[in-house]
Amino acid sequence: MDILVIGGGGREHAIVEKLRQNPEVETIYALPGNGGIAAQAQCVDIKATDIEGIVGFAQSHKVDFAVVAPDDPLALGAVDRLEALGIPCFGPNKAAARIEASKVFAKGLMEKYHIPTAKCRVFHQAQEALNYVDSCPLPTVVKADGLALGKGVLICQTREEAREAVQAMMVDKRFGDSGSRVVVEEFLQGPEVSVLAFTDGKTIKPMVSSMDHKRAGDGDTGLNTGGMGTIAPNPLYTPEIAQRCMEEIFLPTIRAMAQEGCPFKGCLYFGLMLTQDGPKVIEYNCRFGDPETQVVLPLMTSDLLSVMQAVAAGNLADTPVEFSKGAACCVMVVSGGYPGAYAKGKAIDVGGAEQVPGATLYHSGTALDAQGRLVTAGGRVLGACGVGPTLEQAIHTAYQAAEQIRFQGAFMRRDIGKKALELARLQA
Ligand code: AMP
Ligand code: GLY
Repeated sequence: MDILVIGGGGREHAIVEKLRQNPEVETIYALPGNGGIAAQAQCVDIKATDIEGIVGFAQSHKVDFAVVAPDDPLALGAVDRLEALGIPCFGPNKAAARIEASKVFAKGLMEKYHIPTAKCRVFHQAQEALNYVDSCPLPTVVKADGLALGKGVLICQTREEAREAVQAMMVDKRFGDSGSRVVVEEFLQGPEVSVLAFTDGKTIKPMVSSMDHKRAGDGDTGLNTGGMGTIAPNPLYTPEIAQRCMEEIFLPTIRAMAQEGCPFKGCLYFGLMLTQDGPKVIEYNCRFGDPETQVVLPLMTSDLLSVMQAVAAGNLADTPVEFSKGAACCVMVVSGGYPGAYAKGKAIDVGGAEQVPGATLYHSGTALDAQGRLVTAGGRVLGACGVGPTLEQAIHTAYQAAEQIRFQGAFMRRDIGKKALELARLQA
């Protein structure tokens, strides 16, 4: 069986590795893949946003199954195009991908179907938004409607900051068309939990929970990033909370999508905040999270390809989705300057990281240069993942591996999982 995987980050590396465990898998084509994925898949230099290129490749190579992992090709309708060729796909179609691609759509859905989330107002005109932030409660959260590489959310402590956020999005068009509509929303407080779930549009099966570390600096300081590290499971996500999320959020969401005529199939990502009033949705993503996938898939004991095929065929109810009792931690080693400007093309030495028992390296921003040497090619470069029987051991293993990685300007957070460990101790 030949499989197409669209994307080229750490998330896709973890997906490719897991798909490889199925003996029926022959060739995996990764578009575009990266320097690490190249060891397990045939990387093809076609960008994940080049829909015509992807469709042409899938057709000429007669692939049997496609996994569309990143948000952009999903929002651009890659799944609709591939399915039209008769290729079964894992991932939502364009209409269902709006759950991430349009915050106005997502907020409207939650309001209509009474799914708990922050209260909000939607604005189409800059002046109306400016008037509103002159008197709304503070702090307030200003969000661009469309995709903005995780940068379209601004938490504003003062009216001045809120006005600047509206100005940047709606007038200066800092995020292009993504900011032509904005959502201004209530500021919520509480710990965050990420839950990825497989769904075929009728049945939903959540994966093990996780916790991202979005800020660049230790102690949750500095700028927001795509994610500096993750742990799984999230100790705050108790069975009671999981039950409540299933009843109040997960099932209502997939029912709502079906009711709206756009059933969701693929991986639905729930970014949740555990507030004093119960769990609330902070955001939906229409895909696996990165670097959540790098801690969730290593704990999965069921066969990933079988689950993905069941999702595509609409019979997830009959397919087991199981996880081990262990824990995982992923520490991102990033380029100096990230999430701002950073250098590329720096030679990477992974030392003995891959020999650390229980450790795996997932490549995010790496490439092979003309001589076949591994070099940096992105802000987030490598994710060092540790798996162990306890969270403490998983964290220890991940850092043992991460500390061996060398390239000019490399840095990492030193406290991935620290908060989770403290919370777990408090609960014990
Ligand atoms: P997002 O890109 O939607 O994941 O938002 C980035 C981060 O902003 C989230 O992980 C939260 O930490 C924070 N955030 C988003 N919305 C809110 C909100 N309504 N209240 C408080 N924090 C928020
Ligand atoms: N780690 C957050 C995301 O994938 O959106």
